[in-house]
Amino acid sequence: MRAEIELLALPFEPMCHNLAGHNDNKGGLPMDLVPMGPGFAAELRGVTLSDIASDDAAYAAVRAAFEEHSVLVFRDQEVTDEIQLDFSRRFGPPEVTKIGSQGTGSHFVILSTIGPDGEVVPPDHRLVLRNRANQLWHTDSSFKRVPALTSILSARIIPAHGGETEYVSTRLAFERLDAPMRERLENSFAWHDYAHSRGQIAPDLASPEERAALPPQCWRMVWRNPVNGRGAIYLASHAYAVEGMEPAAGKKLIDELMAFSTAPGTGYMHQWRKGDVVMWDNRATMHRGRPWPSHEARLMIRTTISATEADGANTMRPPSSQAAE
Ligand code: OGA
Ligand code: MN
Repeated sequence: MRAEIELLALPFEPMCHNLAGHNDNKGGLPMDLVPMGPGFAAELRGVTLSDIASDDAAYAAVRAAFEEHSVLVFRDQEVTDEIQLDFSRRFGPPEVTKIGSQGTGSHFVILSTIGPDGEVVPPDHRLVLRNRANQLWHTDSSFKRVPALTSILSARIIPAHGGETEYVSTRLAFERLDAPMRERLENSFAWHDYAHSRGQIAPDLASPEERAALPPQCWRMVWRNPVNGRGAIYLASHAYAVEGMEPAAGKKLIDELMAFSTAPGTGYMHQWRKGDVVMWDNRATMHRGRPWPSHEARLMIRTTISATEADGANTMRPPSSQAAE
């Protein structure tokens, strides 16, 4: 999977700053970027989350890599909640975790199969069903009033087998479409609802409180990146209807685009190791968790950064609601 190592052209020298640091890059070399997936996803080497949190040039280099490669992998990190949040805040305002999720009210989403007694929960437990919903292809937070720019996920406890996270580029998928379809989608809007994706796992998986807090949201079906001008299909397991289309025809279009975007051979599968942190661009990718043996523990911590106007969020609402807001 790995291609050649490419040096980032931006001026970041880890030696230049005074970090308590765990940066092995003592020679003052720039950080390395190693492409990982088919046309997107890259590993950044020679930089720590703390470097990026504390150094403007490091952030600028990583931000440029994020805009270009959509999925960034950092290995061998020393991760605490504080380090993860300081790093995440660089990219914009952190989401507050919604009701009904572990970590509610904080800036952390806790994805876990460990119950309050410290034991792995049984396979029919709600936590397991919630993990299963994450195994449907999706982008994070498209069901929220404010969509997400990026999610940052760190592995805290990983199972011996399985439990990977798989990514596809909806930007590359968009660019594979023919011109009439690209133009059509650019002027189409889809409805996203948390209850819809959860309903695919169990009818009552979204609670009445969650349904009340998370009314359906309507988004343009293409998110154009304001930095590089490239469009991406904006869809997810949450999407259930296309504005102005018959329900069945809209659903069919969504299903076809989801299948097209996740075609075999187009993904990057991340095999987690202790110390891994992966961040992704929710505007230009979809992801899904992969199953693992239910008796094995898995604990992942996510921070999520809201998209702002600078990230193109203001271009995503239908024109009528833009006028109304
Ligand atoms: C997420 C997610 C999948 C996984 O954190 O947003 O979908 O593999 N995770 O845990
Ligand atoms: Mn997710």
